[in-house]
Amino acid sequence: MSSSSQSSKLNTRKVLSEDNWTKLNAVLQPLLLTDEIIDKIRAAFSDQMHLANSTDENVRKTSDHLMMNTFIRELLDGTEQGDFLGLDLGGTNFRVVLVRFKDGVADTVTQYYNLTDETLSGPAAGVFDFIAESIQDFLVKQGLDKSEQKIPLGFTFSFPSTQLALNKSILLTWTKTFKCPDGVGEDPVAMLEAAIERKTKNLPVDIVVVMSDTVSTLMAGNYLDKKCRVGLILGTGCNAAFVENISDIDKWTGDYNDPKHVIVNVELGSTGDNGCMDFCRSEYEKEVDQFSNHPGSFTFEKSFSGMYLGELVRLVLVRLIKDGTLFNGKAEKLIEGRWKFTTSHVTDIESDAGESQENTKNVLKKFGLDSGVTDEDIAIVREVCEFISRRGAHIIAAGMSVLINYIRLPEVTIGIDGSLYEKHPKFHDSMMEIFERFSPNTKVKMILAKDGSGQGAAFAAVSALRQLAKGIRCS
Ligand code: GLC
Repeated sequence: MSSSSQSSKLNTRKVLSEDNWTKLNAVLQPLLLTDEIIDKIRAAFSDQMHLANSTDENVRKTSDHLMMNTFIRELLDGTEQGDFLGLDLGGTNFRVVLVRFKDGVADTVTQYYNLTDETLSGPAAGVFDFIAESIQDFLVKQGLDKSEQKIPLGFTFSFPSTQLALNKSILLTWTKTFKCPDGVGEDPVAMLEAAIERKTKNLPVDIVVVMSDTVSTLMAGNYLDKKCRVGLILGTGCNAAFVENISDIDKWTGDYNDPKHVIVNVELGSTGDNGCMDFCRSEYEKEVDQFSNHPGSFTFEKSFSGMYLGELVRLVLVRLIKDGTLFNGKAEKLIEGRWKFTTSHVTDIESDAGESQENTKNVLKKFGLDSGVTDEDIAIVREVCEFISRRGAHIIAAGMSVLINYIRLPEVTIGIDGSLYEKHPKFHDSMMEIFERFSPNTKVKMILAKDGSGQGAAFAAVSALRQLAKGIRCS
């Protein structure tokens, strides 16, 4: 597949007939990310960051990024003591986390609660009632429900929001799997407090901070590695946050006292909503968008994040089935199964190492493709999974390389949470290829901050209390 950043590591060429190889190439070639395209993605991404940093509100409005001040300025310093709670809402599972600090060492208990599809598309109050009841259940199980002192709680709320204070924000839009008809324009902390009041009896919690999952993941990454200055989510959706020098924030209106940095939430999943990425959007991305929960928004993450990668692969496979290159033109369940081919199917297939076909065969069986499947079919399916995954990893890494260069540090660790990064066997290496080429002056390290978005929420509660105690501005 040519000499660009997209060259295949599989032996597909050897397995395929000349005819099928040509047909496969004809489908994949238009999706190829040449260096020139990566440069254009980087330029567009960089423009959005700069526009979002402008002192002029009208200019800021033209940007696809928020570059939102989170008001969080304190990071952990190793002296932490006591109990803190974290909540994580926004991905596939809702989590409640208890962090017990002893001399800066965190002991963490996590419990997952499943939100039903019905709750995700019902009134927002239903989501917050569910959260309130889950906190209650968790506190009872931990023997903390009768706690005399209120436990400080950090709330990871992973939807684009305008941050007004450490513990106050305004929801701009639901994204990903959430489709509640209301809630936009409201404060998630107030909605949660109202639900706690409604559904529980005097829960001993104090919501001291609300943040994006990128921010909590940064906090969790920074606990593991002090060089962690960036938090990245590669899960259902995608976004990043970073520690920024206040003096580099043109639109900053706060004080310049210590600490002279603040965590900024980029909100980058929406890059391209203003059309700045149109030059590299394929017909498949457009179709994914058209049939998604939120058409026309969060364009960037629809090219690679966990909610969409499987569907992108499926659409390319369907194209190959329809032109007779794959499965002899017959694979009804794949053709008709919109959203049924998930990113976890892709990661399973990508986990087939070398000549192994086992995972690929197992996945295909789920789509009724068994006895008639040939070695050529399997090679094509593997090639498409690898190609689309690697393309996605290169797109997000192109954006992240801009962020890395923006920070101007010799070494940066990126703390990452999310099932796509955790489970995909090649995403890490594919992203590193881009950093090596486009961020050559920074030693970049990526670490998994597993469940960081829950644990880090409790860590941010520590920051909030510290800021209040030190009189650091929190709004
Ligand atoms: C979506 C949300 C964003 C979140 C990201 C990762 O892009 O809009 O707020 O951080 O997903 O979960």
